[in-house]
Amino acid sequence: MISEAFLRENVIFKRGIEDIEQIGFGSWGEDGLGLDPSDGPAPHYRFKDQGRDASLAELEEFLADYTPERVSEISGVPVGQIRALAQMYGDQSRGTVSTWCMGVNQHVRGTWMNNLITDLHLITGKISRPGANPFSLTGQPSACGTVREVGTLAHRLPADMVVANPEHRAIAEGIWGIPETDVSLLPADLSGQRCIELGCGTAYVSAWLARRGGEAFGLDPTPNQLATARAMQQRHELAFPLVEGFGERLPFPDDSFDFAISEYGAALWSDPYLWIPEAARVLRPGAALVFLTNSPFAILCSPDHEADGPTTDQLQRPYFGMHRITWPDSVGETEFHLPHGKLIEVLRSNGFAIERLVELGAPAGATTRYLWADADWAQSWPTEEVWCVRLET
Ligand SMILES: C[S@@+](CC[C@H](N)C(=O)[O-])C[C@H]1O[C@@H](n2cnc3c(N)ncnc32)[C@H](O)[C@@H]1O
Repeated sequence: MISEAFLRENVIFKRGIEDIEQIGFGSWGEDGLGLDPSDGPAPHYRFKDQGRDASLAELEEFLADYTPERVSEISGVPVGQIRALAQMYGDQSRGTVSTWCMGVNQHVRGTWMNNLITDLHLITGKISRPGANPFSLTGQPSACGTVREVGTLAHRLPADMVVANPEHRAIAEGIWGIPETDVSLLPADLSGQRCIELGCGTAYVSAWLARRGGEAFGLDPTPNQLATARAMQQRHELAFPLVEGFGERLPFPDDSFDFAISEYGAALWSDPYLWIPEAARVLRPGAALVFLTNSPFAILCSPDHEADGPTTDQLQRPYFGMHRITWPDSVGETEFHLPHGKLIEVLRSNGFAIERLVELGAPAGATTRYLWADADWAQSWPTEEVWCVRLET
């Protein structure tokens, strides 16, 4: 497995500090200061693990009792995988590249982890050859990790978008980043119309309504969400009423609004047998209701646990009878999803005519930050859906 010819030509063996306590973080204060925490910080730190001359025989002796079984016990990596990796690195007929990122480079013992990976390539001679090399994908701790840890990128969203821009946030929040301009779910002009968002959260959708000229109201039962919404209003100098309340019992008189919307608010978290009649009550005849939630396909095909992977092509639960859904990973949360037939029944019996059902899958090349969603799956089935309905006159 090892390449003795390569070792003879190219490698000098050194033996560094092996006691993990002694290694510490690898840098010690000059004159021993800083080694003992009670010393307080030392004025200067130096990297101390210089190593002394050693040999291949010493290394073999040192590693003798690190059998795959023992390493598996220490690391939790199955023995079979350790053997498969050893075969891969040891097989001189094939190239092997190791890649790693900040998990190694910014680890408190990152220097030793880098040493270890590079040593693996040195001992097998798989270094500085086409298709065979250790290859760090991020080299400079300050380029990535530090910048993130101190919050320098906290205002950023993907694709050069920024958190402070409500429209950017809305795009980034959708499962597949499909912009509103592609689906046109909102009236372009809401001038003079009273609009309500049911379960507004941070109220960026309500802000859209206000920007389109609507007299917007945001409703949400969660005081913290409303506090964030207030902070965002101040930041963007956009004021509209934020009301604490549940979709199931709206604190407004009958016929109060011309437009209602819910983006994963009441549409997901309220019982449709309660919130849809309430929406019908507070809307005026002829008013539109638009709501976005997960598609039944996504609910039926999601494994119980997120760790079991994203949506599958196997039905995981019955369609008939679907109503309250709880996920074992989200204790205390209840979502509501109805089969399409039942939802149409509720909408129709509350006087809504159905104008559009927009089923959203993943556009080609789309990615998502939602672990349960899968871009390949969503080329064949919708992950979310938007209902556009209107109260009959
Ligand atoms: C995922 S957020 C979506 C809201 C908004 N689109 C956003 O992204 O900020 C879900 C919101 O629904 C609210 N919610 C939970 N239960 C509700 C209920 N019964 N009626 C109305 N809203 C509810 C939550 O407080 C939360 O702010």
